[in-house]
Amino acid sequence: MDRKELIKKYIEFFKSKNHKEIQNASLIPENDPTTLFIGSGMETIIPFLLGQKHPQGKRIVNIQRCLRTGDIEEVGNSTHHTLLEMMGNWSLGDYFKKEAIEYSFELATKVFKLPIERLAVSVFAGDKRSSRDEEAAEIWKLLGIPEERITFLEDNWWGPIGETGPCGTDTEMFFWKLNDVPAPKKFDPQDENWVEIWNDVLMGFIKNKDGSFEESDQKNIDNGRGLERVLAVLNGFDDNYLTDIWQPLIKQIEKLSNKTYKGNERIMRIIADHIRASVFLIADGVTPSNTEQGYILRRLIRRAVRYSGELGISKDADLTTPIVKKILEIYDDYDILKKNKQKIIDELNKEEDKFEKTLEKGLNIFNRITKDKKTIDGKNSFLLFQSYGFPIEMTIELAKENGIKVDEKGFAKELASHQELSRTASSGKFKSGLADDSEATKKLHTATHLMNEALRIVLDKPDLHQRGSNITSERLRFDFNFDRKLTPEELKEVEDMVNLKIKANLPVVCDVMPVKKAKAAGAGGVFDSKYGEDVRVYTVGSIGKEFSKEICAGPHVDNTSELGTFKIVKESSSSSGVRRIKAVLE
Ligand code: SER
Repeated sequence: MDRKELIKKYIEFFKSKNHKEIQNASLIPENDPTTLFIGSGMETIIPFLLGQKHPQGKRIVNIQRCLRTGDIEEVGNSTHHTLLEMMGNWSLGDYFKKEAIEYSFELATKVFKLPIERLAVSVFAGDKRSSRDEEAAEIWKLLGIPEERITFLEDNWWGPIGETGPCGTDTEMFFWKLNDVPAPKKFDPQDENWVEIWNDVLMGFIKNKDGSFEESDQKNIDNGRGLERVLAVLNGFDDNYLTDIWQPLIKQIEKLSNKTYKGNERIMRIIADHIRASVFLIADGVTPSNTEQGYILRRLIRRAVRYSGELGISKDADLTTPIVKKILEIYDDYDILKKNKQKIIDELNKEEDKFEKTLEKGLNIFNRITKDKKTIDGKNSFLLFQSYGFPIEMTIELAKENGIKVDEKGFAKELASHQELSRTASSGKFKSGLADDSEATKKLHTATHLMNEALRIVLDKPDLHQRGSNITSERLRFDFNFDRKLTPEELKEVEDMVNLKIKANLPVVCDVMPVKKAKAAGAGGVFDSKYGEDVRVYTVGSIGKEFSKEICAGPHVDNTSELGTFKIVKESSSSSGVRRIKAVLE
């Protein structure tokens, strides 16, 4: 059975039981700042579990993309995935325990034709929240599950998501995964050959803020199963990655690395899993960054890139694009993937390139700082983070592989003190991006204005503007909005234009005027909020022949002839849609 067939059978079954299919929602929760991602289907319908009327009625079914980030570093075994498709069905104050279990049993044995000899179940053992669930056990027995295949567990409680909300006891179904060894008569949940295939949450409680549980007025069923695992079970596979969801990706990785899946399972699974999750995240609007969802995405991409290196995939090879193309073929039922195809490819490539530039050096540094050491201190783990782009989780993972510890508290301290520094910088203390007011920085500052204008002209982008500037006595660093790499020809043209203006002995004049007048005069400058009513406007070029006009706090040189020769030393990406140029005056 393939993924599409499974979805079809599943949805049709619940439709035949009067369920209505609802939309698969974004991975990013709406109006819920407390969680980063949707981690289970029920999270998208919480108001309806709490009693609000659902427009589609009281019985609903869907496939919901979910992302679970609690154990990213565990991904690599045969059953764990960062992203999963949850097959969920719900009763919103309609049927309860009896029908829920009967539907689960019918779906498993009649529709999916799982032999009853290979099934087992667990039910709630009872504690102070709720009593032992003899009723559920009785229903399973009546359906034909033998007593010794029913176990009572304290763990059979699910939810709430976060601190408060709907939750309840649950009953889980297990399948004996070995094809050639008959299932033991008695169910032992510790035996890993019994795999959990689905979870019926009998949602009859609400958890309150004070930690107490109370019975809810509306009793719901929240029934979920991970599609990836069910698909593997239905195909008799012991490894989820053998199904049609993963095989095209694994084959692509085999091709790229010239290695076989056998013997390299863990690494290939990590790469496939992380790129698949990243594709969906980007489609849902996330871009790599150092905070929140963006940071998770960055970690996933960088972990995949790191492992692809270990697999021997050359850093010059395009790792992500061919895999993305396969993912888009497999999930052609997702419009958001189709619509965002180019964006997905671009974002992945950008992040891949960025990390590949520093990874090798970072690994060398890692080896150097860990030589004969048992711990990596805060300064060094921060160095790997800041200068080589190693997410701290990656440093920890690498350290673990080498039997070393990381001083995580020390890292957190370094990070905090650095953030304090950058706050100081952005609070305006380093005015106009100038760290000091020396002659050298003044010259570079004027060169920044010339380059800003030259970029607008060469790239034919009148709305190009400064997104950040940092000038030291050695070099200028200038960030601007532009969404692709500049060609060597363009860089040369910019350089030439700046040098031409330098040679033209242009005067640099400062005027003070109200911000409105400055704008009317065509002065650029983006930090409106930073300026009071009157602003300084620096004009380069004589009246009537102005080359550049910028709102700017200064200071600048008096004439471009003072600058020397302008040279661009580096052009790179700074963040999504922002490029960075470093340049010097010689
Ligand atoms: N909410 C439950 C789970 O995630 C059942 O869907 O397992």
